[in-house]
Amino acid sequence: MSALPYLKFAGPVLDEATIAGVAEVLRSGQLTSGPWVQEFETALSAFCEGRPVRVLTSATAAVEVALQLCAIGPGDEVITPAQSFFTVPNMIVKVGATPVFVDCDLATRNIDLGAVDAAITPRTRAIIPTHWPGSLVDMDALHALARRRQLRVIEDAALVIGSRWHGRNVGAFGDLVTFSFHPNKNITSIEGGALVVNSADEANRIEPLRFHGITYLSDRTRDVAFPGGKFNLPDVNARIGVAQLARLPEFLARRRALVDRYFERFATHPACVLPPRPDGDDGQSWNMFSVLLPLERLNLSRKAFRDALEERGIGTGVSYEALHLSTLGRRFGYQDGDFPVTERIARETVTLPLHPALTVADVDRVCAAVAEIITAARK
Ligand SMILES: Cc1ncc(COP(=O)(O)O)c(C=O)c1O
Repeated sequence: MSALPYLKFAGPVLDEATIAGVAEVLRSGQLTSGPWVQEFETALSAFCEGRPVRVLTSATAAVEVALQLCAIGPGDEVITPAQSFFTVPNMIVKVGATPVFVDCDLATRNIDLGAVDAAITPRTRAIIPTHWPGSLVDMDALHALARRRQLRVIEDAALVIGSRWHGRNVGAFGDLVTFSFHPNKNITSIEGGALVVNSADEANRIEPLRFHGITYLSDRTRDVAFPGGKFNLPDVNARIGVAQLARLPEFLARRRALVDRYFERFATHPACVLPPRPDGDDGQSWNMFSVLLPLERLNLSRKAFRDALEERGIGTGVSYEALHLSTLGRRFGYQDGDFPVTERIARETVTLPLHPALTVADVDRVCAAVAEIITAARK
């Protein structure tokens, strides 16, 4: 075991002012959704150039509600990358639609838009791409394709709040956009998510979808016309989210400095496949730093590599498993070999520690440990 402090692979920075702010909310008696939810939604809307935003208990809830806003259900197909987190296919299946997976690009890990075009059928209703840290999906091409084929787009922007495209924040344009405020994301509300929509009408339609399906009648009673979810964010969480959003630029600058250090240290050694290197003020944000291990040249499995880092007090993650090869994915007829790039990433990827509480010395420690383990395992 290492005598050095344990390095988590992800995590938030919560300051004392935020903790004091939470205590105030707790003392106020207004615990569930209230003024802080409104404040958080107003701040997020300003961040998205005035587009309406509604917060929910998670990005997963936001994706489910987005699918419901688009009236996507049984008989419909939704195209999504096989290289992503479980959220999107889970929610597609939950609303009764069929997930149609496509492969991704090895360098950027983003959805292959050529493969999306080829996968469109008369039943296709939407595309749900996941934006990758450091490499946004080509938004010009994505939205042009969606317009041409008359499809809805739900951007899974869970990992990229703060990334910019042609100088504009992700969320400020497009169709529907979802963010996550899980503690591993660029900002947190502990658990939480947001859905950016196109109009006040769409925003109003979210209200019953996130709160039991309830509508309020003029006689001060309530009605339910469909079974809505229970996805309203408590004020305690929204209070944290407001404080975190204000610090987003600072958090992203810190993450970028750490990423620059990773690239500096990995430039010569060891031989991992790195993400595309950032280029000046390119507008990208860095929620994760994931490398591919040269497993064919090592006497070492990925599990053994991760265990060796863990023994040195360094946490890692896997982002992500191949979705089409999950038990759920296979239910839709997918099998090994369908998406070679996704499957290679799923075999070889390791996410190294990256979060704003780390120091450059911590990154140096990670890089030295990675180099040591890989050198010792060379065939
Ligand atoms: C790419 C991606 N999308 C969506 C989610 C879901 O976020 P949440 O935990 O807020 O539901 C995650 C969570 O890790 C994710 O990595």
